[in-house]
Amino acid sequence: MQKTLEKYYILWYTIIYDLSVESEMRGSDGLAAVTVSEEELKEQRFFIQRVRAVTHLFGHKPMAYTHSYGCQQNVSDSEKLDGMLEEMGFGFADSPENADLVLYNTCAVRENAENRVFGNVGALKHAKRRNPEMVIAVCGCMVQQEHIAQRMKERFPYVDLIFGTHVLHKFPEMLYGIYEKGGRLVCIPESDGIVAEGLPVRRTDRIKASVPIMYGCNNFCTYCIVPKVRGRERSRAADGVIAEVRGLLEEGYKEILLLGQNVNSYGKGSGTDFPQLLRELDGFDGEYVISFMTSHPKDCSHELIDVIADSRHISHHLHLPVQSGSDRILKLMNRHYDTAKYLELVDYARSRIPDIQLTTDIIVGFPGETYEDLRMTLELMERVRYDSAFTFIYSRREGTKAAEMDDPVTDEEKGKWFRELLEVQGRIGENAYARYVGQTLRVLVEGRGRTDEKLLTGKSRQNIIVDLAGSDELQGKFVDVRITKALPWALIGETIQ
Ligand code: SAH
Ligand code: SF4
Ligand code: F3S
Repeated sequence: MQKTLEKYYILWYTIIYDLSVESEMRGSDGLAAVTVSEEELKEQRFFIQRVRAVTHLFGHKPMAYTHSYGCQQNVSDSEKLDGMLEEMGFGFADSPENADLVLYNTCAVRENAENRVFGNVGALKHAKRRNPEMVIAVCGCMVQQEHIAQRMKERFPYVDLIFGTHVLHKFPEMLYGIYEKGGRLVCIPESDGIVAEGLPVRRTDRIKASVPIMYGCNNFCTYCIVPKVRGRERSRAADGVIAEVRGLLEEGYKEILLLGQNVNSYGKGSGTDFPQLLRELDGFDGEYVISFMTSHPKDCSHELIDVIADSRHISHHLHLPVQSGSDRILKLMNRHYDTAKYLELVDYARSRIPDIQLTTDIIVGFPGETYEDLRMTLELMERVRYDSAFTFIYSRREGTKAAEMDDPVTDEEKGKWFRELLEVQGRIGENAYARYVGQTLRVLVEGRGRTDEKLLTGKSRQNIIVDLAGSDELQGKFVDVRITKALPWALIGETIQ
């Protein structure tokens, strides 16, 4: 064993660091390309076959363990990586111990997300020692940051492959490089970004499917690392999105989640903007739901709200991250709206869609925030009465503008503020869903209950979890449910025959 290990370590060397897509990788059509060319995809299919030939020699079906640590966009990327793995002949293991390949897709949005990855990659050391042939790959937003990729490479010499967010589609080529040359590869080219159409996708859910409609972000909120690690905003062509959604509905999917960091700026400058795209996607036959994430308040228009209100299939749920209730802080955050504009949007949405579910994101402890600013956030929460709120303590992200700002409030104080905010939202959220009690809601049944196996669980048009009694045949179907009880996070009801 020791001998194998020695041999293994000696063979390790770094092939290329910060490989540039243009110059080093074969067949690239360059960084300026917005859409990955058919030729490039053909080339990747060639590498898929080469990897297949290599893993065939294992003498058993190669198994991969993959995990996504990030947002829905990250999960969606992982579905593509899994799709490529499947085409390379891999099956999927339920733990790293039983895998020939481990692939972690990482998130950089807050420090604790990164710490979790460092911890879990650290824990792979033993698995790799037991199985030196195992390939360990780490990809995604976190390692797109050069200082993190460097740290990952130095701290974990047993990680074979590190690649960023802009070379996802080159995974087969990179993996083949590892199998063929036996070294290590770090590939994190900077890029304004590409749009890769036509990659295989492995979806494990048969009822819900995510469809990215745009990538990247141009907003540069001063606290946020996403624009840095995901590149500039770029939208997929409307035709491609519409064809994909049509295909998914034909396959029997019932809920389509459209993804983007700021879906409201989809298609800017092209013929089809977001409200128009929604109109198109609302026009198919049959019963289905279209939902989307995330809306930036600065680009959220009355037109968008009107489209939702007048639609047959668009979810009555608006996740509208406010971040802060203080105009001074919103300015420092570079959010490009003030509380007056935000509240006007909320009022308009409620007037046009009375049953709408409203949710938000809030950051506590942004640099320079005072207790007075926090009080304004609490007041805004009382005024809007969100159905639920995702709340975060500010996390300093290297390379962002906020990281350079004075941040005098102690962590302890921020912790106190955070608890106060949770308490206020807890009180508001406690009874928020009570307004649905007695109503009949149309519910898409998705599976067995999360908290109670005896119940089925589903989602209403407002994107609220609804638990109900019923048999398994209802899964994947829409049913009318009379709501009998409201919990802070879900509704309970009974089906109407
Ligand atoms: N594009 C989405 C948000 C993506 S990140 C939008 O703008 O709505 C999800 C949430 O994480 C953000 O809304 C914000 O509340 C939070 N977040 C982002 N960066 C953060 C940071 N540095 N510290 C704490 N929370 C952060
Ligand atoms: Fe980050 Fe702001 Fe872009 Fe959202 S809109 S991803 S918070 S920079
Ligand atoms: Fe998503 Fe995290 Fe990247 S929130 S876009 S996986 S930094």
